[in-house]
Amino acid sequence: MSQLILGIETSCDETAAAVVAGGRRIRSNIIFSQIKLHQPFGGVVPELASRNHIKNINPIIQEALDQAGVTWEDLAGMAVTYGPGLVGALLVGLAVAKALAFARRLPLVGVNHLEGHIYSNYLAHPHLKPPFVSLVVSGGHTDLVHVLGHGQYCLLGQTRDDAAGEAFDKVARVLGLGYPGGPAIDAAAREGNPRAIDFPRAILPDAPADFSFSGVKTAVLNYHNQHRQRGQDINVAHVAASFQAAVVEVLVERTLAAAVKCEVEQVAVCGGVAANTALRELFRIRGAEAGLEILFPPPILCTDNAAMIAAAGYYRLQAGCLAPLDLNAVPNLSLDSR
Ligand code: KG4
Ligand code: ZN
Repeated sequence: MSQLILGIETSCDETAAAVVAGGRRIRSNIIFSQIKLHQPFGGVVPELASRNHIKNINPIIQEALDQAGVTWEDLAGMAVTYGPGLVGALLVGLAVAKALAFARRLPLVGVNHLEGHIYSNYLAHPHLKPPFVSLVVSGGHTDLVHVLGHGQYCLLGQTRDDAAGEAFDKVARVLGLGYPGGPAIDAAAREGNPRAIDFPRAILPDAPADFSFSGVKTAVLNYHNQHRQRGQDINVAHVAASFQAAVVEVLVERTLAAAVKCEVEQVAVCGGVAANTALRELFRIRGAEAGLEILFPPPILCTDNAAMIAAAGYYRLQAGCLAPLDLNAVPNLSLDSR
């Protein structure tokens, strides 16, 4: 059997298709980002995202096949994200994937977007092997997961309110840094002092693997508003660096504590926020102190892509988990809900 899987991802504002061999080797990874389209609105506009996916999905799939140098006949199957995400956006990828699977007589696999993010580290690090702990930290999620095997997950903790990426995006908007906020705060923070302002770190003593970022977000908004009311300027770089430090320290601390508790040797960090420079640096330092191997995908595989969906799909196909042709979008799908 061919080992080639075509992956399709349209859960938010990236239209993406990729071909992956054997679940681990990227043959092509095409990503069309809609950032420019949504930028004037300061965030993703769901209706615009869906329409744009419809416009671009077919040429992007063709490009993924062409760049990989494969034809439909070479494929072993197709994998498509069916949740979580924006329902209208998910439905575009699903409709296209189901139609193509039917027309080309290819097996279809439905992939959980969060599971996809976890697989981005399998693509980047051939020696990554379960069991390990994974921190999935993106615009919509902050999940701490014990990965026990392929398709076997134990959710250790998650955010009680905002996702880390969501907090980055909201704080960036208030600071006038634009959308998407994560990379903008990352860049602004390089010129600032992370100890300049003592923003709160949420402590949840009853749930040490859970997170909360609404408190730090509100603290930044209050800091900004109080200064504005007094007619005082704020130092944006110091605010960005101090906010980023508050988020990053909590993420690193809780993840490493969970890894020690689960007695794993590897920690795999993934999702858009995993591209953050300060997060990578602090994980590197604290991970070495704790004797843990910390793995990150390269930045291009941190944010949404279809290679990670194809990788997860390969292992699901091997396990015989085929999707029916009436597979529907599940906007609030969680990692342990299947
Ligand atoms: O994984 P992703 O592409 O989409 C979701 O599944 O949500 O993550 C997007 C999120 C956004 O909130 C964006 O601001 C954040 O990842 N992000 C970053 C960085 N690059 C992207 N956050 C902090 N620092 C970065 N360098
Ligand atoms: Zn994502």
